[in-house]
Amino acid sequence: MLNIDLKGKKAFVAGVGDDQGYGWAIALALAEAGAEIIVGTWPPVLKIFTGGLAAGKFDKSRELSDGSLLQFAKVYPLDAAFDTPESVPQEVKENKRYKDCAGFTISEVAAAVERDFGQIDILVHSLANAPEVQKNLLETSREGYLAAVSASAYSFVSLLSQFGPLMPSGAAAVSLTFIASERAIPGYGGGMSSAKAALESDTRVLAWEAGRKWGVRVNTISAGPLRSRAAKAIGFVDKMLAYSKANAPVQKDLEANEVGATAAFLVSPLASAITGAILYVDNGLHAMGVAVDSPTLQPAEQIPAVN
Ligand SMILES: NC(=O)c1ccc[n+]([C@@H]2O[C@H](COP(=O)([O-])OP(=O)(O)OC[C@H]3O[C@@H](n4cnc5c(N)ncnc54)[C@H](O)[C@@H]3O)[C@@H](O)[C@H]2O)c1
Repeated sequence: MLNIDLKGKKAFVAGVGDDQGYGWAIALALAEAGAEIIVGTWPPVLKIFTGGLAAGKFDKSRELSDGSLLQFAKVYPLDAAFDTPESVPQEVKENKRYKDCAGFTISEVAAAVERDFGQIDILVHSLANAPEVQKNLLETSREGYLAAVSASAYSFVSLLSQFGPLMPSGAAAVSLTFIASERAIPGYGGGMSSAKAALESDTRVLAWEAGRKWGVRVNTISAGPLRSRAAKAIGFVDKMLAYSKANAPVQKDLEANEVGATAAFLVSPLASAITGAILYVDNGLHAMGVAVDSPTLQPAEQIPAVN
């Protein structure tokens, strides 16, 4: 039998703050395959996340197929917009949501993970942030644009450069991207489309560099729309879900666990020859060149039927 077997592997998943997003689904799939899960959580949501975990709020979503619950070996505070303590502005250091979170920069978290776990076999980047995401690109400030690229794309470069030395040959990293990097999707603003384009380009360059330097593979999953907390903040996710269902080759809702399973495959030895790739997990929407539900194409009988 061909199995995804990650027993004995340690995974660091950056970007888990509740049970609604892709980070959670990926953590669950990796645990299902036997990996030990270590998590990095953004300081502003850390208390509510760890409090919810302790209170059993996520227990239903933590269930694995053998009846046990997904366990997190450790939850670290992580702000992926900062690389070193020196790079953290004073107002962030003094912010009440950061005050109790010592060591939340990328280099400090990598050092703590090395101290606590020695090495990791899997690195997952499932985070994005753009303060001006609701603004069109033409209205986005330089500051907003650079903040989007910093938190959503450079964060992956920095994570891999800091965690790479902890990753043995054969280890793998994976990130999450979105089709707005290559096709205009009105509403995905604030420089987020630019950040995803950077993330995808970096996937290829980092595959080359990390492959030669450490024997680490690097891939990204271009996922379809999901009603996560981040997507709800962008504001048009319900329309994207309906659009996808109406126009994608596979006409169904996209489940977060389908992205989780793909990530588990990509970081497993089954994908040992896959690196530098963008894998679409979107019910095939990326392959379409027209919206078949467009009023321009109506009446629908003019569209060649397929069944
Ligand atoms: N939801 C979608 O429709 C969709 C589609 C394609 C790709 N994606 C991508 O999937 C990834 C996960 O997003 P999601 O939609 O599952 O939402 P999510 O809200 O579950 O995940 C985003 C996470 O990023 C964290 N975060 C924000 N800024 C951070 C920072 N500076 N440092 C550390 N963590 C930070 C948030 O706390 C949150 O936990 C993102 O890269 C997103 O762009 C989402």
